[in-house]
Amino acid sequence: AQNERESLFIALNFAKDHFVDNLWNSDEGKNIGLTYFKERGFSEETMRTFDLGYALDQWQGLIDASNKKGYNEAYLEKAGLKIVKEDKSYDRFRGRVTFPIHNISGKVIAFGARTLKSQEKGPKYINSPETDLYTKSKILYGIFQAKNEIRNLANCYLVEGYTDVISLYQAGIKNVVASSGTSLTEDQIKLIKRYTDNVTVLFDGDKAGIKASMRGIDMMLTGGLNVKAVRFPDGEDPDSYSRQIGGEAFKAYLNKNSLDFISFKTDLYISGTVDPIKRAESIREVVHSISLIPDPIKRTVYLQQSSSQLGIEESTLLTELNKLLLNES
Ligand code: GTP
Ligand code: MN
Ligand code: MN
Ligand code: MN
Ligand code: MN
Repeated sequence: AQNERESLFIALNFAKDHFVDNLWNSDEGKNIGLTYFKERGFSEETMRTFDLGYALDQWQGLIDASNKKGYNEAYLEKAGLKIVKEDKSYDRFRGRVTFPIHNISGKVIAFGARTLKSQEKGPKYINSPETDLYTKSKILYGIFQAKNEIRNLANCYLVEGYTDVISLYQAGIKNVVASSGTSLTEDQIKLIKRYTDNVTVLFDGDKAGIKASMRGIDMMLTGGLNVKAVRFPDGEDPDSYSRQIGGEAFKAYLNKNSLDFISFKTDLYISGTVDPIKRAESIREVVHSISLIPDPIKRTVYLQQSSSQLGIEESTLLTELNKLLLNES
């Protein structure tokens, strides 16, 4: 089935080229897609780096182009590009800007595609289905473009969305990947660990983003990563906030506001909380996170730190920690 995989790669690469060509060379692509990306502040170089494109608002734009080339239509379907329903077949991506998803060696394995109509019903983004080449839970968006910088800088920024990756990259922060809105998986954590043990979580500054950060932090601690996190003003995400304050100010913001997970959780839960019950719950939550760290020496160091930050005797926290460790093993 090596040939089969190769044919899927060819179909996906053809689709990528076709969408890129639409964006730069068709009237519809230029008027709608290119205008949209420019309004978002993306430069030509950035659009080229991420192979951004545009799927025409037609039922069979890609299918027709592929047939003209003499490709076998079956591979379009197996690659998730063509939908077959009853006796009709049509393009999956229509009238949307396209974000190819690359594997670590830079081959296109799937697409995300965004609608341009803000009032439209239905999903803002649609994605390729899982295929022989694409398993959603095993890939991170942007890993191909980011991997060298992650290794060189020994840190990986983790964001929620495609446009967060692209904006930060354009601002010179190239060690950035996205979970693409799904909750983080063990395989994605292993993927990061191939390049670094240090992650900084930059999730959206809304309720959903903060909740996802909390869960993501615990998963990454369990996976043995060193975790920091940054909080953004409510309603902002890394893309919107970096554009609002500018790339340089954004970098300064990250440096100033990157908190280790203990400070991040302590800050979120405890700052301003005088209610003793809530305080106790928050302290337990921090100790719970510490209990997930596999390395006992790191656990001890973090316990000492949290003791001084929380103003609780270390022995008290240690009793709680040991209780949790016993329950979990
Ligand atoms: P913009 O509105 O273009 O700035 O996107 P965003 O990345 O800020 O979107 P949001 O924070 O709402 O979601 C984060 C990520 O979740 C997106 O980049 C997508 O990968 C994914 N996502 C968001 N909405 C949808 C959806 O309706 N369907 C699917 N499948 N994924 C979505
Ligand atoms: Mn969001
Ligand atoms: Mn956004
Ligand atoms: Mn967002
Ligand atoms: Mn927890």
